[in-house]
Amino acid sequence: MPKNVSTGKSTNKTIFVLNGPNLNLLGMREPEIYGSDTLDDIAGRLEDQSHQLGLEVDIRQSNHEGHLVDWLHEAAADAAQAVILNAGALTHTSIALHDAVKAIDVPVIEVHLSNPAAREEFRHKSLIAPVAKGTICGFGALGYQLALDAASKF
Ligand code: DQA
Repeated sequence: MPKNVSTGKSTNKTIFVLNGPNLNLLGMREPEIYGSDTLDDIAGRLEDQSHQLGLEVDIRQSNHEGHLVDWLHEAAADAAQAVILNAGALTHTSIALHDAVKAIDVPVIEVHLSNPAAREEFRHKSLIAPVAKGTICGFGALGYQLALDAASKF
């Protein structure tokens, strides 16, 4: 089952925050790379920030590629203001996510906690980056807040 960490009413003031495989393990998974914050910690901060900005966030996580594709389509159908997408390892492999980001008329901000360019070579290529509005990486959990700040200006 996809995990809906936090629901927000879908209006055109909604920012979808979509998280891919293994990001449910944040906080315990390789904390020296990804930090000690859990996805719920991040979600709480994004909710506070979004209320200050007069926006709603709809924060979700799934380990399944198809859920992420469906949620990108949903963001478009709901006329979401933006999508913040950390596709996890699917960043480096998923043509389906590339196509979905390209297909929707909603700006997508790619986020990574780590800096994939400074890691193993297989992480150097992103299939999301060429179709994203922009990418924020290497700033840990702060990257989500930076992305929300950027999305609030769209
Ligand atoms: C990640 C980077 C990816 O290479 C990795 O597979 C992840 C997390 C990040 O947030 O740093 O799962 O997207």
